[in-house]
Amino acid sequence: MNENLSSNNSDENQSRENWTKRAAEKWNEENVTEENFKQIVKFKARLLNAEIKNIDSKYYLQAVKSLQDKKSLYIQGKIGCGKTYFAAALIRDLWFSKRCTEEMINRGKYPWQNFVVYHDMLNLLQELREIYQGISRNVESAIIDECSNCDILFIDDFGIQKVTEWNLSIMDQIINNKYNNYTQLILTSNIAISKVAKNMDERIASRISEMSELIYFDRDDRRVG
Ligand SMILES: Nc1ncnc2c1ncn2[C@@H]1O[C@H](COP(=O)(O)OP(=O)(O)OP(=O)(O)O)[C@@H](O)[C@H]1O
Ligand SMILES: [Mg+2]
Repeated sequence: MNENLSSNNSDENQSRENWTKRAAEKWNEENVTEENFKQIVKFKARLLNAEIKNIDSKYYLQAVKSLQDKKSLYIQGKIGCGKTYFAAALIRDLWFSKRCTEEMINRGKYPWQNFVVYHDMLNLLQELREIYQGISRNVESAIIDECSNCDILFIDDFGIQKVTEWNLSIMDQIINNKYNNYTQLILTSNIAISKVAKNMDERIASRISEMSELIYFDRDDRRVG
């Protein structure tokens, strides 16, 4: 937990503490290891380095409150502004501080195991495409099931994929399943949700809009200058 935040609204902090305590009872301490975290999130090295202490507490508070209110997150901003870093740091913080909702606890015997699934949008579609073209259709549906059933699905770079019928049908299945199961999404994107509706698909955009809180990163590219 980011210590900068301890002076914030005490009611909010109190309810967060209760939340964590109940989760902590259910979430076996011995499972909360770096090794399990790596295995579950399958983050690339760069994402594993992301730490919440480097994040502006304004965004962090907004994100935690939204997730606790069972909302998904749509993290939007310019190229290189830090969206992926933020989402990865947030997931690390949630996991290690065992922050989950009642629903997450009630859903599974082992909340730590199906807590989060991470995919880069392009890689996910590519992986599914290869499987689809091969013979193992049940692997394809296993990946879609895993995305659909996990508590939090983190899709990085949402919106840069080509708009093809096949891509849209995969995204529609996943987003619709999250929507219907009341499970959560963390999406990072360079484009506004209105543009997703216009250029990609209205059904998908409509569901994401209803489910999500917009976190807008108002800063320039960190990679240059
Ligand atoms: N809070 C931070 N503290 C330290 N480094 C950061 C922070 N946020 C981002 N970075 C670094 O800045 C660079 C850009 O960040 P990141 O990849 O998260 O941007 P992005 O918004 O996801 O970009 P894109 O739109 O291209 O996907 C990376 O090298 C990342 O490690
Ligand atoms: Mg990114």
